[in-house]
Amino acid sequence: NAHPRLAQVMPSLVRHLHDFAREVNLTVAEWTAAVDMINECGKMSDDRRNETQLLCDIIGLESLVDEITSKMLATSMSETPSAILGPFYRQDAPLLSNGDSIVNLSPSVSWYEQAIADSAFLTGRVVSGRSGMPIKGAVVDVWHTAPNGLYEQQDESQPDMNMRGRFATDADGRYSLYALRPVAYPIPDDGPAGRLLAMLDRHPYRPGHIHFIVSAPGFRTLTTQVFDDRDEYITNDSVFAVKDELVVKFKPRDGDSKALWTLEYDFVLGPQ
Ligand code: DHB
Ligand code: FE
Repeated sequence: NAHPRLAQVMPSLVRHLHDFAREVNLTVAEWTAAVDMINECGKMSDDRRNETQLLCDIIGLESLVDEITSKMLATSMSETPSAILGPFYRQDAPLLSNGDSIVNLSPSVSWYEQAIADSAFLTGRVVSGRSGMPIKGAVVDVWHTAPNGLYEQQDESQPDMNMRGRFATDADGRYSLYALRPVAYPIPDDGPAGRLLAMLDRHPYRPGHIHFIVSAPGFRTLTTQVFDDRDEYITNDSVFAVKDELVVKFKPRDGDSKALWTLEYDFVLGPQ
């Protein structure tokens, strides 16, 4: 009694892999190089870095399975589209209050000036796709890079959990926080995934983006990203995660000494 899903999936996987090998006349040397590469990915992966995931991402596989999964689970077109989790999520980001900042600025960092220029107030509502009603007590878990393009765990110059926070929505379903307009940055390109990109003459950049996981009891958890429309890589993401509905416009903000930009973005959740 074979495992039912595997019995369905494996014949197709084998057929496509064999067809691929025949189509390109794959040699023993080439197959060996691929095996070595996958082994190297595994060896350099730990809880800070997932090189095998990165390898999948640059061939669009994580974005594709995200798309397939969300299409299977979505019940209405009005739900906010999902996007890939990516390799830099950390659980247990600080629980903050609405109106707090996730930016820990030290004037000594080289990116201080840009952080001021990109200072942004983020707000919006979390609503039910089915009823359109605001969801109170939804948790908005948010993270992005510093202006140097590095996530906190990649960067000695940032304090632990910098640029990360969790916010609970108020009675109107609203979240609000101070963050930054995100910048484009290269995915880690010092390993096999980066070497493959270089051999294909591809760049490693992702358009500036902010990650979110939005959750509430009774609703399907939404993992997504929003993309700043100012970014030159918006049509050329190295991991193919951009969707039109996730491209956002920051507007100039007046009369707030803490932010020069505002982003208003609502999250629409589907039923569980
Ligand atoms: C990838 C995704 C990200 O969000 C990121 O910041 C870096 C890399 C990825 O898909 O590999
Ligand atoms: Fe990211």
